[in-house]
Amino acid sequence: MLFGEKTPIGLDIGAGFLKVARVKEARGGYELEDFDMIPLPPELIVDGSIIDSLRLSDSIKELLRKSRIKTKDAVISVSGHSSVIIKMITLPEMSEEELEESIKFEAEQYVPFDINDVNIDFQIIGPRDEPGQMDVILVAVKKDVINEYVSVVKDAGLNPVIVDVDVFALENMYELNYDISAAKNVALVDIGASSIKMNIIKGGIPSFTRDGPVGSNLHSEALQREFHIPYEVAERLKRGETVENISEEEARAVIEAASEEIFNEIGRSLEYFRTSMAKEEVAELILSGGCALIAGFPEMLAERLGIEVKIADPFQNIAISKRLDEAYIRDIAPIAAVSVGLAIRRVGDR
Ligand SMILES: Nc1ncnc2c1ncn2[C@@H]1O[C@H](COP(=O)(O)OP(=O)(O)OP(=O)(O)O)[C@@H](O)[C@H]1O
Ligand SMILES: [Mg+2]
Repeated sequence: MLFGEKTPIGLDIGAGFLKVARVKEARGGYELEDFDMIPLPPELIVDGSIIDSLRLSDSIKELLRKSRIKTKDAVISVSGHSSVIIKMITLPEMSEEELEESIKFEAEQYVPFDINDVNIDFQIIGPRDEPGQMDVILVAVKKDVINEYVSVVKDAGLNPVIVDVDVFALENMYELNYDISAAKNVALVDIGASSIKMNIIKGGIPSFTRDGPVGSNLHSEALQREFHIPYEVAERLKRGETVENISEEEARAVIEAASEEIFNEIGRSLEYFRTSMAKEEVAELILSGGCALIAGFPEMLAERLGIEVKIADPFQNIAISKRLDEAYIRDIAPIAAVSVGLAIRRVGDR
């Protein structure tokens, strides 16, 4: 097939929602051809590890049926501080080929796992001010975690062609949709159901990444506890619906109180970047993930951290196909950030 479907889908396997996106390159631009998502039963994925692979591959099949996507090639991602290590390291200047040879040896001191148990990748950023030195981003992902995800995705009938990392998918999404300015530092922050992914971009380069262990499940749990309501009702409250005589104000107060750990987690990272690492301000925070959809949350975050918060728009430079429900896609856009970042990866692109 000369003009066969060569663009893989982006499949974001989150702890709360499975999302799939298909983005085609069309006349020099990009177009979203498909997007869909379904909620996952709780506890299928815990701290980036798959607990019930059978039910997960069934859920992936269900999503593919629902979205009617026929493409088999898929880009997926892994995350979690216990499976993924990302470090900016300084090495003596050498060529890509030389580093390819020695990376395993170099990485050993930075990776807290047995070096034979991880897949290693790297990107040379460039020379440092000190002569003869260069900056390198080192990425190590546990092999068993990759294998777990790959086998679940294969069981669902897909062909995983790239395994990426959530924080890099965010960066991909950002680079396609935003003007990169060397002058300002931008924090990409994705708050999902059970995790926070952060990637602070300095001069177009990922300089600080972090995977935090809390997410918007905190809000659901607090709402359930406070109002003695089941999970589904708490989810509706988060969407700003009025249920069971609970007012929006009451719900908002509980959500704000339950956000403390989230504020602290992000605040600590920003503080570390500002005071210890780059010694520069972070100009703005681009917020994605389902948490960005909670009524009032972005404003709370901005106020608490004293930073400009913008809701991520993964479709700023991606047209939305006429076949799709554009209003719906724009409404949920921030939750699609990682899946879009994955969907624009191409085999062999870096
Ligand atoms: N329309 C909405 N309004 C408010 N909250 C929402 C909405 N849709 C989803 N959420 C909340 O967002 C969270 C899911 O977000 P997201 O899909 O980004 O997480 P995930 O990728 O599944 O999780 P993780 O990244 O932690 O693995 C859930 O806690 C859910 O309650
Ligand atoms: Mg997620």
